[in-house]
Amino acid sequence: MMFANGNLKAGIDKPFSQKHLLRLQDYSPEEIFHVLSLGMKLKNERKNNIEHPLLKGKNLAMIFTKSSTRTRVSFEVAMTQLGGSALFLSSADIQLGRGETIADTARVLSRYVDGIMIRTFKQSDVEDLAKYGTVPVINGLTDLYHPCQILADLMTIYEEKGSFKDLKLAFLGDGNNVAHSLMIGCSKLGMHFAIGCPKGYEPNQDIFEMAKKNAEKSGSTIEISHDPVEAVKDADVVYTDVWASMGQESEKEERKKVFSPYQVNSNLFSQAKPDAIFLHCLPAYRGLEVTDDIIDGPNSRVFDEAENRLHVQKAVLALLLKGD
Ligand code: CP
Ligand code: NVA
Repeated sequence: MMFANGNLKAGIDKPFSQKHLLRLQDYSPEEIFHVLSLGMKLKNERKNNIEHPLLKGKNLAMIFTKSSTRTRVSFEVAMTQLGGSALFLSSADIQLGRGETIADTARVLSRYVDGIMIRTFKQSDVEDLAKYGTVPVINGLTDLYHPCQILADLMTIYEEKGSFKDLKLAFLGDGNNVAHSLMIGCSKLGMHFAIGCPKGYEPNQDIFEMAKKNAEKSGSTIEISHDPVEAVKDADVVYTDVWASMGQESEKEERKKVFSPYQVNSNLFSQAKPDAIFLHCLPAYRGLEVTDDIIDGPNSRVFDEAENRLHVQKAVLALLLKGD
């Protein structure tokens, strides 16, 4: 991929044809690279106290029907650093929570703001917001996908490894929203992806098929295994996420039992390459999906990863909300 050679110019002046960020599958590898390189440029500017008010006077509405620390704070700070502002809209407070439709919410918010970020359950609600509204919509996590997280993960991997080609990412745990978006992101950029998960917790079949097609194009592989050691073997990146996602709280105890062989601990991590990095989207449940020695250890990059949410989302916001 060209990105590794650094010949893709970061910037918001380069044409960017996407209107929304609903799922990574809608983006070409070049568009993903464009977002990542702009994210790194903005990160570098921020570290050097160079201001970048690319969205001066613009407003972002942020709808949350699920909890959040990173997504909420990083998007709000991102808008401030870009010279705009963000409104936090909890579904507990807005009329959406009392039955106003997504379509009407989209139509109304489009008259006030320049973009909408939403975290919710159904992917179709995010797609409906985009369908009925007239402003860009960004998916801040659904039951199916978490594209913003994976852009930050890819940026972190690139910063560490300098390329994506021929790297292997191993995901341990549930075939959930984060696993789905990782599978798509890796397969688009030519990274091998292996998931180690219990039987019955595999990724969604349609998303797996999509990722396999991407992988054929990019020359990578997608593997599903029920053996955690096989999944982690020789990995460059070891990734895990909570065993019970938001909305699955009632399954917590059952999942603890089923997922325990997939815990990322020093035994399992030792099967990866010696220079493998550990990533986790966070929040982490220490002692369950990951042990303290791994998440706090020398190979962990989880807080760089969390920081990169801010930088890469500034890139997404700048590209989608800048207007003509
Ligand atoms: N990783 C992530 O999206 O974190 P929050 O749930 O805190 O937003
Ligand atoms: N899979 C997790 C990710 C949290 C950022 C969830 O959906 O709760």
